[in-house]
Amino acid sequence: MEQRFVRESRCFKTSRVFPPDVNNHNTLFGGKLMAYIDDIASIAATKHCRRSVVTASTDSVDFLHPIRPSDSVCMEAFVTWTGHSSMEVFVKIVKEDLLSGERLIAATSFLTFVALDNQKRPVPVPAAVPETEEEIKLHESAPQRAEMRRQRREESKRLAGFLTVKQPWE
Ligand SMILES: CC(C)(COP(=O)(O)OP(=O)(O)OC[C@H]1O[C@@H](n2cnc3c(N)ncnc32)[C@H](O)[C@@H]1OP(=O)(O)O)[C@@H](O)C(=O)NCCC(=O)NCCS
Repeated sequence: MEQRFVRESRCFKTSRVFPPDVNNHNTLFGGKLMAYIDDIASIAATKHCRRSVVTASTDSVDFLHPIRPSDSVCMEAFVTWTGHSSMEVFVKIVKEDLLSGERLIAATSFLTFVALDNQKRPVPVPAAVPETEEEIKLHESAPQRAEMRRQRREESKRLAGFLTVKQPWE
């Protein structure tokens, strides 16, 4: 089976926080951070499989600390584990107070991407080979998260089965 090291998909992006990116509390708007996360995670997934990918799901985004205009935001993303056509991507967001140098994990997120062939059908991806302690820990705990996602997807389908698509004015 084809394999790629986790490090081969790793990517980073560092940004400033500008006035249009903040909320009423003058901290980074959560929706902005979520867009950054999906963006960098899709790059890591594509680097891993060298195919077109789509976001299948985002488990959650845990906002641990507010990000202020005086902070930089460094995002790191890499593929931690793969199924058949799916890839789990971990995104770590580190904020750094640019004046003091203090760094904190501001948020973490797990996303799942699916590789697609030219007909837009799911296609097998190489296995991910972890090397560092952090990569190994995330790799080993991934099957449990994948099972939770499988159950959640079933539940989402069940929910969609009885939700209406009718608009209130119809
Ligand atoms: C994701 C998608 C390609 C899956 O296609 P599908 O025909 O349902 O294919 P399958 O059921 O065979 O699933 C393919 C893989 O995706 C995984 N998957 C599908 N939905 C998932 C979900 N919600 N969460 C996690 N994994 C998921 C499956 O577990 C499977 O993994 P595996 O091949 O590693 O075993 C399809 O549902 C889709 O196109 N969704 C919309 C994606 C999109 O538009 N994203 C942008 C958001 S705006």
